[in-house]
Amino acid sequence: MKIGVLGSGGVANVLASGFLKHGHQVTIGSRTPDKLVDWAAQNPGGNTGTFAAAATFGELLVLAVKGSAAAEALRLAGAENLAGKAVVDACNPIADAPPDHGVLRFFTNLDESLMERLQREFAGAHFVKAFNSVGAASMVNPRFAGGKPTMFICGNSEAAKKQVGEILDQFGWETADMGGVEAARAIEPLCMLWCIPGFTRNEWTHAFKLLKR
Ligand SMILES: NC(=O)c1ccc[n+]([C@@H]2O[C@H](COP(=O)([O-])OP(=O)(O)OC[C@H]3O[C@@H](n4cnc5c(N)ncnc54)[C@H](OP(=O)(O)O)[C@@H]3O)[C@@H](O)[C@H]2O)c1
Repeated sequence: MKIGVLGSGGVANVLASGFLKHGHQVTIGSRTPDKLVDWAAQNPGGNTGTFAAAATFGELLVLAVKGSAAAEALRLAGAENLAGKAVVDACNPIADAPPDHGVLRFFTNLDESLMERLQREFAGAHFVKAFNSVGAASMVNPRFAGGKPTMFICGNSEAAKKQVGEILDQFGWETADMGGVEAARAIEPLCMLWCIPGFTRNEWTHAFKLLKR
């Protein structure tokens, strides 16, 4: 597939490289494409550009920007370039205030997630929450002694979630579909839980697994 990745941080870089590794075509975008020079040097098959260039290029998009800037990044990408496409949303609504005893602070609340806000503003896009509650280093083909970790996803479009499930298969994850966009109220705070061992004990190498009988 043609993948457009919006973002220039660690998550965008890792996921963009992962898509290339798995045979997809990639354009990664930033407000300042010069930030992507190192990524381009390390990923000769990939393209770089603006948010709008990445969004135009992609048949499926990945949103991996600072949570408080997510809506602005999508506006720069252009609502018309998102319409009808799956948008994998890796963002977390982390507030600027520091963590409290290792617990991140969010600018959203338990009755309204970031992804619901984005879905409301960009109604033509098919948002799918994924990759928000694991560290960038473990996003692509992670290896854990306990087997495949679980990626919790949600979103309103079954077709978009099917596409994301196929990508998660390639990237070495099992997928747990938690339902519609409202489930992001529960999935986004998994990031808070995931980060607590990191902030309190400098442990950043874990992932969640859903056990079933
Ligand atoms: N780091 C992790 O391991 C991890 C794991 C899971 C989920 N996440 C989530 O994934 C997202 C990306 O995390 P990250 O650590 O890779 O990067 P980040 O530092 O959180 O975000 C960097 C990106 O945000 C964009 N940005 C910042 N301010 C902006 C503004 N005013 N308008 C438009 N865009 C703006 C930057 O755009 P430019 O390129 O134009 O500068 C850049 O692409 C975050 O929401 C984070 O919570 C992170």
